[in-house]
Amino acid sequence: MNKPVHILGIAGSLRRDSYNRAALRAAGELLPEDTTLEIFDLDDIPIYNQDDEQPPPARVVELKERIRAADALLIATPEYNYSIPGVLKNAIDWASRPYGDSAWAGKPAAIMGASVGMFGTARAQYDLRKMFVFLDVHAINQPEVMIGNAAERFDAEGNLTDEKTREFIRKQLQSLVAWTKRLGQTQSAHE
Ligand code: FNR
Repeated sequence: MNKPVHILGIAGSLRRDSYNRAALRAAGELLPEDTTLEIFDLDDIPIYNQDDEQPPPARVVELKERIRAADALLIATPEYNYSIPGVLKNAIDWASRPYGDSAWAGKPAAIMGASVGMFGTARAQYDLRKMFVFLDVHAINQPEVMIGNAAERFDAEGNLTDEKTREFIRKQLQSLVAWTKRLGQTQSAHE
């Protein structure tokens, strides 16, 4: 029997009716077999201050533990002013610290994003990919999930109703799971 792949989902929005939070919930309905998705909310992560690194805030400790325990990550980012929102950058910074103790290094990941604009967070996603270079996060390239005109693709209850978008997410999750297994095999081959 295959060991289940455990994915940690993080949305870069605190908004109650966030499309990105809703996209993560939709991902939970579209998982491949033997895959689980846990969603970590960024609501209680304080603003990063290097003076507060030792000891780190409890919620940051929890975030780092959840990242480390996950086999793979799924980040749903909004686009704010052509980049990722501060709330997501703040969490990324916290979990990368203190120097030498980053929780991100070596993790397989997938990026998705929903925006009310027509470009579906493309610019924010490429900024996030740039950060992943330094963080040594191994993001899959395809398929890209850029949910533009989000107001037309989710209903009033936050359900993702657009079948094409659901199919993109389904394929992205399949690709993430395959990539995670491939990286795992590569790692165990070197042990
Ligand atoms: C936005 N929005 C936005 N949309 C976009 O496509 N490109 C952008 O650069 C921006 N910039 C931006 C800045 C700020 C400060 C806000 C509040 C909003 C609109 C954005 O797509 C919309 O608010 C989404 O609904 C945000 O995602 P959540 O909160 O629904 O997940």
